[in-house]
Amino acid sequence: MSKQQINAVRGMNDILPAESAVWLAVENRCRDVFEQHAYQHIRTPVVESTHLFARSIGADTDIVSKEMYTFEDRNGDSLTLRPEGTASTVRAGIENGLFYNQQQRLWYVGQMFRHERPQKGRYRQFYQIGAEAYGWKSPDIEAEMLSMIQHVFQRLGLQKTELQINSIGDTQTRAEYRRNLVTYLQDYTQDLDEDSQRRLTTNPLRILDSKNPDVQSILASAPSILDALSPESTNHFARLQELLINLGIVFTINPKLVRGLDYYNDTVFEWVNADFGAQSTVCAGGRYDGMVEQLGGRTTPGFGFAMGLERLIQILQEQEAHVTKHTRAVDVYLVSLGDLARTQALLLQQSLVNAGVRVQSHCGDGSIKNQFKRADKSEAVIVLVIGENEAHANEVSIKPLRNQLDGQSELQSQFTAAQKGAVEAVTNLLKSL
Ligand code: HAM
Repeated sequence: MSKQQINAVRGMNDILPAESAVWLAVENRCRDVFEQHAYQHIRTPVVESTHLFARSIGADTDIVSKEMYTFEDRNGDSLTLRPEGTASTVRAGIENGLFYNQQQRLWYVGQMFRHERPQKGRYRQFYQIGAEAYGWKSPDIEAEMLSMIQHVFQRLGLQKTELQINSIGDTQTRAEYRRNLVTYLQDYTQDLDEDSQRRLTTNPLRILDSKNPDVQSILASAPSILDALSPESTNHFARLQELLINLGIVFTINPKLVRGLDYYNDTVFEWVNADFGAQSTVCAGGRYDGMVEQLGGRTTPGFGFAMGLERLIQILQEQEAHVTKHTRAVDVYLVSLGDLARTQALLLQQSLVNAGVRVQSHCGDGSIKNQFKRADKSEAVIVLVIGENEAHANEVSIKPLRNQLDGQSELQSQFTAAQKGAVEAVTNLLKSL
């Protein structure tokens, strides 16, 4: 049998211990802010029936037409690894009666899968953290959610990330606008790039999103969707802007902002970090009042967003935000020699853990010298030693690590305490460091 090394799938990454502390810190801060806004957590399966995404995201979107990981399971059912979290949340809500005479604020985090060309900020497996609100037609829920996102960014210390908003109106407006846009663009068909020419027949609104400067200059005089909105949509959008201004949330209106998923109506938005490169959208979302009905439920308005965690964390790292700073993993390293000492050490670890101390206990063989080397590496600020003598006397030597205690010379000497009193001695010492 070949012993060749097996590597991770292209575009799918491990998150190793050196990085995972930052991931957890970011996720925890998001979670705190979501909970402060009364959002409750939901977890849905990673695999769903393929129809779910085709019917909600739209058959003509890039996601559904070319990026989904779709396979037949052993029963011959067509299943798909979720490319995003919104459709699954709606499916779960309908199936479990969450929308029945109720409003819901929900948040989620997890892996999503899209077969895109991997590059900085774009992967085939990536994490989204997001939130969805069901049952509110009014723009106040939108302002509340955008304010929540701004809180998250502030709590993470994220900078230079700007909010863009747009309204794409209702279905009828969009259909009319689509016709007007196609009529306008048809005069320039030859000048459009291949991608835009294809989209002219499949999904013309997505041409507005083109990054090609030639296409952009053609678009400069194209009709604006904002001029095509119904009075209702116009008022809705105006009220949202009023609320955002009142909350001190800075935004720009980008009339060319359309989303890559078909389910939106009225408000859409993106938070963009221009310094990051091509994949600069950190967070995106909008209103989707038709999806619940589209998927077989009773009409229920929806509004939500998702942030790409890889992008968010890379930007925070580039900005050297406080949340990315290394924090020490353990407080105490427990050295022990001999069976009796090891037995006592494991017991002492239990008591220290109960008191909230983070302890790395030496396991396996190892001379005193070797154990001290490991203690140094562990970043612990205190080493506890139970050697054979200490074990027989039921004592423990407490040694503040010199290099961790620069400038606190009075604490630098080692002392001995009874094992019974060790927890108190250690917690007091930790407080003083
Ligand atoms: P989306 O714009 O497709 O929207 O994705 C949201 C965010 O996920 C993006 O802005 C980006 O940060 C991240 N993202 C997307 N694709 C990738 C990728 N291949 N690699 C790394 N990060 C990626 C949605 O998914 C909607 N479900 C958002 C939403 C929620 N709308 C309403 N509710």
